[in-house]
Parts: sequence; structure tokens; C-alpha cells
Amino acid sequence: MIRSLKILMITLVLIVASGVFSRLLAVQKGSENKGRFYFRQTCKECHTKGAVGGEITPLNKTMAQWRTYFAQGTHNHGKEPLVKHLPADQLLDASAFLIQHAADSPQPETCGK
Ligand code: HEC
Repeated sequence: MIRSLKILMITLVLIVASGVFSRLLAVQKGSENKGRFYFRQTCKECHTKGAVGGEITPLNKTMAQWRTYFAQGTHNHGKEPLVKHLPADQLLDASAFLIQHAADSPQPETCGK
């Protein structure tokens, strides 16, 4: 009786723990859809043709290049941190969007502009 209770408890703990863990993983990966929104709202202000930063779309880099870029985390020739323009959680979403739609990704995207 006590033994089966123990097994039940352990099973419950495992279920809860795996739920929390997968949610953490999801958060770490960032949301591509939210990222598209943040990228258009903030980054595109300076990154359309003729604007101060020049045109930038997901197609500017490969998936690996975007990963490296966000791992470094600096912007404008290394002069400032990327988080100057977007808070870290939104930046994670924006990076998910750019990586998932990079030039060599399965779904390359110009983000409609
Ligand atoms: C206030 C204007 C501004 C905003 C907002 C902005 N950028 Fe930039 N960005 C620039 C300028 C200026 C450069 C340098 C352009 C050049 O080389 O002539 C640049 C360069 C870049 C480059 C080329 C590599 C580098 O860093 O030098 C990338 C990629 C980039 N920005 C991505 C982003 C992303 C992603 C965001 C949103 C999180 C963003 N930018 C927001 C102005 C901006």
C-alpha cells in the first residue's frame, strides 16, 4: 500500500517536473510569431530601404550567422548591446523569428516589406 503510494507520488512529481521543464525550454527558444511583431515594430524603424540602418530582413543572414549574431549580442558594428533596442525577452523572440526565416531556412521570409 505504502509502496504504491510512493510510486504514485514519484510519478506525479515527474509529470509536474517535465511540464515545467518543457515550458522553460519553450521560453528559452522564443516565439517566432511574437518575434515577427517585435522585429517589425522596433527594428524595422531603422531597417527599411533608405532608413539609417539600411534594409534588414531574415534573408540577410543564414541560420548559423543569425545564431552567432545574437550570441554575440552586439549591434551597429559592435558599438552597443542589442538589448538597447529590445528588452531581452522580446529580443529572444525576434531572434527566433530571424533564425527560423533565414536565407537557408526551410521557410525563408522577407517579412512582407
Ligand atoms: C535606432 C535605429 C536602429 C534600430 C532601432 C535598430 N537598428 Fe540595427 N542598425 C542600425 C544602424 C545605424 C546600423 C549600422 C548600419 C551600417 O552598417 O551602416 C545597424 C546595423 C544592424 C545590423 C548589421 C550588423 C551590425 O550590427 O552592424 C543588424 C543585423 C541589425 N542592425 C539588426 C537589428 C535588429 C535585430 C534590431 C532590433 C532589435 C535593430 N537592428 C534595431 C540602427 C538601428
